Amino acid sequence: MPRFFGFVRDQYTALPLPPTPADIAQQTFVVTGANTGLGFQCAQHLLGMGAGRVILGVRSVQKGEAALAAMRQATGRHEAGAGTVWELDLQSLDSVEKFSQRLATLDRLDALVANAGVVMTERQIVQGIELSLLVNVVATMLLALRTLPKLQASARKFNTTPRLVIVSSNSALESNMKGAVPSAGGVDVFDKLSEEDGFGTFSQYPKTKLLQIYAVRQLALLLPVATTAGGVVINAVSPGLCYTDLDRNASRPAKVVLAIMRKLLARTAEAGSRTLLQAAFAGPDSHGAYCSECRVKNEDVPAWITNASGKTTQERVWNDILKRLDAMGHGVDVAALAAPAPSARVV
Ligand SMILES: NC(=O)c1ccc[n+]([C@@H]2O[C@H](COP(=O)([O-])OP(=O)(O)OC[C@H]3O[C@@H](n4cnc5c(N)ncnc54)[C@H](OP(=O)(O)O)[C@@H]3O)[C@@H](O)[C@H]2O)c1
Repeated sequence: MPRFFGFVRDQYTALPLPPTPADIAQQTFVVTGANTGLGFQCAQHLLGMGAGRVILGVRSVQKGEAALAAMRQATGRHEAGAGTVWELDLQSLDSVEKFSQRLATLDRLDALVANAGVVMTERQIVQGIELSLLVNVVATMLLALRTLPKLQASARKFNTTPRLVIVSSNSALESNMKGAVPSAGGVDVFDKLSEEDGFGTFSQYPKTKLLQIYAVRQLALLLPVATTAGGVVINAVSPGLCYTDLDRNASRPAKVVLAIMRKLLARTAEAGSRTLLQAAFAGPDSHGAYCSECRVKNEDVPAWITNASGKTTQERVWNDILKRLDAMGHGVDVAALAAPAPSARVV
């Protein structure tokens, strides 16, 4: 079936609410960008399902507290500690470090849903790179990498398999994205994609989401669930087209196009959030996978991502992420994360 018709069919498919994990009352979840949209709905569902603790990672604590108050009202979860608001601004890598240091103090962490993201329709350079590349890719991957030790430690301590979920987008898989990420010529991926030339209203965002997919695939390859210290399931999820405020920065014409598309095809944010929950509860079969429509859906990932040349691009994207983090003073020791599982792991 041509890709567009498949997309339309999927948008009209009712999505199930995933079954609640039996031990959810003991579990701690972090959802970034939880003050609105998909993140809000995902966090609210987790509270409503009885999660032990849900941390809302938000850039405006005020907006986060207002969102939490609404969630408490809707779910009846008024007890102190069930929901907590922590500040996180993905425009600042220092803020990511601070947030991760707070996460390190938790007794346990069962899932990070890295949901926060932006669409920029005007090119803005921040700390040397285009803003949506900084927020959606560099800062999001720094958060993922800094959170992994806590997820791994929780896996060992509680004999569980925590999840690291990156919220991506099906727009990354469109055929016009083939070749969108430079794979040859020695040019740095972030320098290239930050250039004015090539920046477009509808083209920059899917590129950031494609970089996320490459990064998830590479990270999952480097950290297999079964063999690394405290296996963590790492996956990417696409929520599909949903009614949210994601296009708040868009130009007027772009907003009109998106409004028409949404009117015809979009899911509610609540329906879209079910895909985030599925990924946050998914088993090892979702490791390195692309999830959508509340299931592992690797068949949607085109061959130009998975073939030999796609793998070369993937490695290059990964190396450029690490290089960029290093250059920005936030280097990561990935080898330490990939250390073999100690035999002491409880089975
Ligand atoms: N809606 C869709 O159709 C759709 C489709 C595919 C993928 N997605 C993905 O789903 C995720 C959630 O998007 P959404 O649709 O729910 O959009 P949204 O309603 O605009 O929510 C985005 C969230 O990200 C936060 N955020 C933005 N920049 C941030 C920063 N610098 N630091 C920390 N938080 C920041 C926002 O905070 P503020 O409220 O403070 O701005 C907001 O909480 C995104 O990753 C998006 O790419 C959405």
